[in-house]
Amino acid sequence: MEGMFERLQAGPLRLMEPLDQELFKIRWEQGAEDVLRPLRLLYGHREDFGAWVERLLLAVGKAYAARPSDLRLLDLQRLHQADWFQQAHMIGYVAYADRFAGTLPGVREKIDYLKELGVTYLHLMPLLQPRPGANDGGYAVMDYRQVRQDLGTMADLADLAADLRQQGISLCIDLVCNHTAKEHAWARQALAGDLVYQDYYLMFPDRTLPDAYEETVREIFPEFKPGSFTYYEQIDKWVWTTFNEFQWDLNYANPAVFAEMLDIMLFLANQGVEVLRLDAVAFMWKRLDTDCENQPEAHALLQAFRALSRLAAPGLLLKAEAIVPPPQLVPYLGVGVATDKECEIAYHNILMVALWSALAERKVVLATHVLQKMPRIPARTAWATYVRCHDDIGWAITEDDAAGVGLDGFAHRSFLSDFYTGRFPGTFARGTTFQFNPKTNDRRVNGSCASLAGLEQAMEMELWGETELAIRRILLLYNIILAYGGIPLIYMGDELGLLNDRRYVDEPSRAPDSRWIHRPMMAWDRAADRHDGQTITGRIFQGMCQLITARKRTLALHARTAVTPTWTHNDHVLGLVRESAYGRLFILANFTEKPQMISRVRLSELGFDGLLVNRLNHQFMPMWDDIMIEPYQALWLQPADSLPKQA
Ligand code: GLC
Repeated sequence: MEGMFERLQAGPLRLMEPLDQELFKIRWEQGAEDVLRPLRLLYGHREDFGAWVERLLLAVGKAYAARPSDLRLLDLQRLHQADWFQQAHMIGYVAYADRFAGTLPGVREKIDYLKELGVTYLHLMPLLQPRPGANDGGYAVMDYRQVRQDLGTMADLADLAADLRQQGISLCIDLVCNHTAKEHAWARQALAGDLVYQDYYLMFPDRTLPDAYEETVREIFPEFKPGSFTYYEQIDKWVWTTFNEFQWDLNYANPAVFAEMLDIMLFLANQGVEVLRLDAVAFMWKRLDTDCENQPEAHALLQAFRALSRLAAPGLLLKAEAIVPPPQLVPYLGVGVATDKECEIAYHNILMVALWSALAERKVVLATHVLQKMPRIPARTAWATYVRCHDDIGWAITEDDAAGVGLDGFAHRSFLSDFYTGRFPGTFARGTTFQFNPKTNDRRVNGSCASLAGLEQAMEMELWGETELAIRRILLLYNIILAYGGIPLIYMGDELGLLNDRRYVDEPSRAPDSRWIHRPMMAWDRAADRHDGQTITGRIFQGMCQLITARKRTLALHARTAVTPTWTHNDHVLGLVRESAYGRLFILANFTEKPQMISRVRLSELGFDGLLVNRLNHQFMPMWDDIMIEPYQALWLQPADSLPKQA
C-alpha cells in the first residue's frame, strides 16, 4: 500500500483541512491490518487485489470527506465513550415507520412517546425502496439510496436521524446485504443479459451445481418456495434465491459487489444512521458440501465492512442478524484475531427461545443449561435481547441441548409448536404455524407476545384470573430481557399488550405470510389508556416503565459485566448472577403460576448472604427467611452493602 495516503491526499481528501487529513491518516495507519486481513482472505488470490484495495480506500476517503460535521463530532464522542451502547440506560424500540406513525416525519411526532418509555435506540424496520407488490416485509430492496416513497425522502430520513439524536435516540435501519430484489437495477441488467451484472449474482447454466448445493443447504421458506434456486427462461439460467423467488442472493466472491455494498453502507451512515442491522448475514458466502451458512468468508466480509467503515464513520455500529445455533452465533461478535472486530451487536435468539420454552414447560432447566453453555462475548460487544420480533419463532433447540437435560429434541420442539399454536391441551397461547416442512417436520410459530403469553385467550373467555397471569407473563419476559445485559428491544405494541392482528389476510400480497399476524398497526387509541392503572394496557405499560426505570439505575446491568445463569435448586425459578465492579446482582424469576421459594442456604452458597434489597421495589428481604417469589414474579436482589452510592 505504498503511497496510498498520498494518493488519497491528492484525491478525495484534497479539499480537507490538513488536520482532518492527518486524522484520516492516523485511522488508516491504525486500521490497515484490520482492513487487509479479511480482504486478503476474500480476494487475496486475485491478480488485481491491490487495485481493489485502492478502489475501496478511495471510496472510504470520499465518504470521509463528505461526512457532515455534526456526524464527525458524533464520531469523536463515540470514540471517547466506546461503551455507549453497552450501558444500562440503553433501551431499544423496534417499529415499522408506517404502522407506528404513518411516515418518517410522522415518527418525529412520536418522539415524546418513545422518550416516555425511556427509549435510546430506535430500529425502524425496512424503509428503503422495495420492489412493488410482495416484498417480504421490505426485505426485497430495489433501490438502497431511496426511501420507500410513501414514507418520505432520504432528506426526511436524515432529518429524523438528527432529531432523534438530539433527543438521545440512535437510529438503526436495515441493510439487506445478502440479496436484492430481482427488480434492482443490477438484477435488471443481469436479466437483460449483461455479463458484468450477471456476475453480481449466483447464476448457473443447468441444474448440476444447484442439485449439488441442495444436497446440504436448508430450505428457509419451504412453503413459499421449495429449494434454493429459481429458473429464469429469459436468460436460461438458475439463480440462487435462498428466501423468496424475488430475492436474488448476491455474489460476494465478486469484489465489485463488496465495493457496491460498502458504498451504500457509507452513504447511509452519512445520513445519520448510527446502527445498521445487517440482514441474513449467515448466508453471504456459499461453499459446496456445506450448509452454506456461517462460512469463514461471511465473517471476513463483516470484518472488512467494519474495518473500512470505521475509517470514514467510526461512530457507526453493525448489528448481525444471524439466527443460528450458539456455537455459530458468538463468532459474529468476533473471535480470535477478530475479537471486537466484527459486529458490535447480535441478536440473542437462544435467550428468546429459551424463555418461551420455560414459560410453556413451567421449568427453567433447559433454559439454564443452554444459557450456561453460551460462550462469553467480547468486552466491546453486546447482545440485542428480545421477546418478540417481526419474524417467526423457530425452536432452535439442538438434540444435544435437549439430551443434556434428559429431553428428546424432536419431541420438545413438537411440544413447543403445539403449545404455542393452541393445540396442546390446557395451553394459554394463541399462535399460528409457519412454514411446516414435511421433510424435517419442522414447524415454526407466529403470534404477538401478548397472544402467545395468554392475554388473547383470557380476555376472550373473560377469565380475569387468567388475564392477570397473562399480564404477569408479558412483564416477566420483558423483565428478563431487560436484566440480561445488552440492548433490550421492545417490539412495537408489546408495551400495550397488542394481540394478534388477523387483518393481513385481506391483503393479497400479505395473506400467504402469517408473520403479519404479529405486525399490527400501532393502537394509539389503546395507548391513550396507558396512564390508567385500572386498564390492561395501563398495567402492562406502567409495569414496563417501572422495569425500564429500574434497569436504567442498575449500573450492574452494563453489557460488559458477565451474566452467569445459575441453578437455584428450584426447577421453576431462573437464576442469573451478575458480578461486576458496579455491584453484584442476583436475578430470580418464577416461571410458574404458583408461588415458589428459594432457600437462604442456596443464596449463601452463592455468596448472597446478609441484607438483600430488591432493586425493583426497594424492599429489603427479611434477613434469615427463605425467599418467597410470587407467581411470575422476578426479583433483582443486591446485597444492601454493595449498593453504589449514586444509585
Ligand atoms: C431476515 C428478516 C426476515 C426476512 C429474511 C430475508 O431473516 O428478518 O424477515 O424474511 O431476512 O430477507
